Amino acid sequence: MYRSHSCGELRTSDINKEVTLSGWVQKTRDKGFMIWVDLRDRYGITQLIFDEERTPSDVVDKAKTLGREFVIQVKGDVIERESKNPNIPTGDIEILVTELQILNEALVPPFTIEDETDGGEDIRMKYRYLDIRRNPVKNSLMFRHQVAMKVRNYLSEADFIEVETPYLIKSTPEGARDFVVPSRMNQGQFYALPQSPQTFKQLLMVGGMDKYFQIVKCFRDEDLRADRQPEFTQIDCEMAFVEQEDILNIFEGLTRHLIKDIKGQEINDFPRMTYDEAMRTYGNDKPDIRFGMKFGELNSVAQHKDFKVFNDAELVIGIAVPGGASYTRKEIDKLVDWVKRPQVGALGMVYAKCNEDGSFKSSVDKFYDQEDLSEWAETTGAKAGDLICVLSGQANKVRGQLSALRMELAERLGLRNPEEFAPLWVVDFPLLEWDEDTERYHAMHHPFTSPKPEDISLLDSKPGDVRANAYDLVLNGNEIGGGSIRIHDKETQALMFNHLGFTPEEAKEQFGFLLDAFQYGAPPHGGIAFGFDRLVAILGGQETIRDFIAFPKNNSGRDVMIDAPANIDNVQLKELHIQLDL
Ligand code: AMO
Repeated sequence: MYRSHSCGELRTSDINKEVTLSGWVQKTRDKGFMIWVDLRDRYGITQLIFDEERTPSDVVDKAKTLGREFVIQVKGDVIERESKNPNIPTGDIEILVTELQILNEALVPPFTIEDETDGGEDIRMKYRYLDIRRNPVKNSLMFRHQVAMKVRNYLSEADFIEVETPYLIKSTPEGARDFVVPSRMNQGQFYALPQSPQTFKQLLMVGGMDKYFQIVKCFRDEDLRADRQPEFTQIDCEMAFVEQEDILNIFEGLTRHLIKDIKGQEINDFPRMTYDEAMRTYGNDKPDIRFGMKFGELNSVAQHKDFKVFNDAELVIGIAVPGGASYTRKEIDKLVDWVKRPQVGALGMVYAKCNEDGSFKSSVDKFYDQEDLSEWAETTGAKAGDLICVLSGQANKVRGQLSALRMELAERLGLRNPEEFAPLWVVDFPLLEWDEDTERYHAMHHPFTSPKPEDISLLDSKPGDVRANAYDLVLNGNEIGGGSIRIHDKETQALMFNHLGFTPEEAKEQFGFLLDAFQYGAPPHGGIAFGFDRLVAILGGQETIRDFIAFPKNNSGRDVMIDAPANIDNVQLKELHIQLDL
């Protein structure tokens, strides 16, 4: 038996018990006649004491050889500590060791295994197994497990069945590039790893499974960011005989349940907003609604004066920055520089200070009088003491720029409290999106998303105006889920493929299996997928998903620990009928 107890378990009620513990040496303090060792495992830390008077001398000698991260087993008696440590649950006791076995020695770790480590990101990724020993990473993984269990239980209770779908499949169109796997047995052919189980879950509905879910890996070859990994996990769900309203209700329920159960917070408001409204009010299809700073459209009050910049612009919009009237000239200049950075791309920024005495001072006083500026304040909701920041230009661009400024200012003003949760449904997404590169329309969600029946007639005349039965779940400014009601009849699906530029042959070649299945009684159906990594990270008060993934990839898509991707040898290449042309 390696251990009778864990290192986080013993309390004063265990005093006088003889126990066996196993774990890693966190640290040792050698005072000559007395040696203390902090022994660590997943459950906590217990102090060991080796005492020249009470511990056999060979055991004391062995204890003197212990280094950090050695794996040891000890036997001893639980005794009361002389100087107690109220900071840890086992702080009232220690183990007077009688036997010590070194199970494995360890090299000195390349960074300290402490909550505040001296190791940088790169080195911790290379030695991720050591990083996992640290509380912040360990706790994040344990937190992830908890959330997964709660999701599984909730959905199982609601009659959902977890079904595994294959990983070696054919391309699924979710908008990213596929990772592909060459087939040895089928010369020159490739599997694609799923970007999501989308087509399979729809086939499960044709198969009568009715309510499906799966906590499942998905693979997308796309540019990486803090909230994107090339392999990530979805809570993927699909239901038959449902309308959009049914889906929103069920998954609003799941979201409320998780926030209540995990964070102890009751969600009162779970608003819904159309895509159009989100874009107009926040310049963003995933608005953070924990704070205001809504956009005010200023065209009618700012144009037709003598200010050419505004007169020439398609859209003039502003936001009120709470307390911003106190910013110095230098601080405002810095903000202007910030919006002019290439990542944001604004050409400049006009501002107006709302003074405490009710007067205004703007950077364009030459063109606008106090009455004009008071209209600006009214439109943007600015109060005395606020700063109105105004951008202008092409509508799409300027909305994105003001959205970036809004988020930046909120961050600086501490308005993005990670312990506050503000979920939101964004509904009525456009069905199609124009792609500048290929100069054609693409499905904004995916090609199986159903158009709103009342908009189908616009498909030929105004394809960009057709709305979809598609929705996103947004939490604190992050898209944590997306889904749609699907097309379930062959005719509408063929119409969609046609509008997406697929010839009937191409559609048959790529999705013939789905079109075929639709001829055998496909029920009306729809679903959603949550980004599980994102959900866990946000519930954990963070936005970087890497910290909640045991073995993540870096920003170049590499696993620096196992050094992948890597070359494969010629024999393997030959077997796969692959010739490299490097
Ligand atoms: P979608 O493409 O919106 O929908 O993906 C669903 C959710 O998955 C998360 N997500 C990611 N998380 C981490 N890294 C990534 N690279 C990544 N890409 C996406 C997001 C997103 O909201 N099959 C559809 C769902 C459906 O229609 O039912 C789908 O995959 O949180």
